[in-house]
Amino acid sequence: MVCIENGSLVCVKKGANLIRNGEVVAFPTETVYGLGADAFNVEAVNSIFRLKGRPADNPLIVHIDSLEWTKFLYKEIPPWANKMMQMLWPGPLSIILPACSCVPSVVRGGLPTVAVRMPAHPYALKLIKYAGTPIAAPSANLSGKPSPTSARHVFEDFGEDVFIIDGGAVAVGVESTVVDATSIPLKIYRLGAVTPEDIESVTGKPVEIHVKPRDGRPLSPGHAYRHYAPSKPLYVFRDEKTFLEFVRERNPIVIAPQKYHWVSDRFISLGSSPVDAASLLYMALRDADKMEGDIIAAIMVEPVGVGLAVNERMSRAATYILGGE
Ligand code: TXA
Ligand code: MG
Repeated sequence: MVCIENGSLVCVKKGANLIRNGEVVAFPTETVYGLGADAFNVEAVNSIFRLKGRPADNPLIVHIDSLEWTKFLYKEIPPWANKMMQMLWPGPLSIILPACSCVPSVVRGGLPTVAVRMPAHPYALKLIKYAGTPIAAPSANLSGKPSPTSARHVFEDFGEDVFIIDGGAVAVGVESTVVDATSIPLKIYRLGAVTPEDIESVTGKPVEIHVKPRDGRPLSPGHAYRHYAPSKPLYVFRDEKTFLEFVRERNPIVIAPQKYHWVSDRFISLGSSPVDAASLLYMALRDADKMEGDIIAAIMVEPVGVGLAVNERMSRAATYILGGE
């Protein structure tokens, strides 16, 4: 069921009770909605994988409300990781470090490391606090589908099977930046609203971006799977000329920044900045699937700040990527 939170925290308290009883609860974070369970309850975490249809080797992010929990999740915390926690949490950044042996293997997808983040959302923080335990949570979508940026999206994927805390539309709209902080250089496995420059300036350490499998070998299990994909074929364009030609010839559903509103009468806007595009992209992909039309065309946004993450998600959702750099 969808429980609409109006600030009274009634839904959050109900959700926390369910988590304590080993059940799964969908909740809002600042990035996307999460599908959470008690991170130390193996059975509960198994239910997340079952519900999502998620491959067992793809690890989950553990959400915390206080730095105290890091001692119970990580084996050791190097000084550069400590700086990120102090300066960038709560926020859209998941930090990978060697895991404490008490973190169940199912949470880690069998890896020796664990990803942890402190979300910047009042309901998420209260949910963890009232549950009294860290919450393991992937995005609250069926595996392969676009991540949910509203409670309605979660309901579309799971219906009545899951208790959903409705906290309205999320702020950021793309998932957290994932950084591997086990060694220097730091490695970014997923781009997000916390940028490589933010991490470099906070830690004073070099940062490498590894968002694609190298030589076919994924560094992060998440790289092995197609993501965020609508059901209809999605053509993603790198440049305007090729994009406009394609739209003229094929008359697709169009997902693009507002300035292109004139190109099609089946137009879904990505707003007027990379920040707008991040908050609108997943809803746009879901809405395009529901519209009349067989194919979708989208054009990449300005590759600055969170725009890099938007373009990466578009590429991973794409059936075809076309046009020049
Ligand atoms: O913003 C977010 O991060 C959202 C909200 C709910 O917090 N969560 C989310 O989780 O996007 P999920 O499960 O959809 O994505 C987690 C990503 C996956 O690509 C996974 O492979 C990677 O993080 N990951 C998690 N633990 C890892 C580890 N120990 N080593 C390498 N990659 C890891
Ligand atoms: Mg996900």
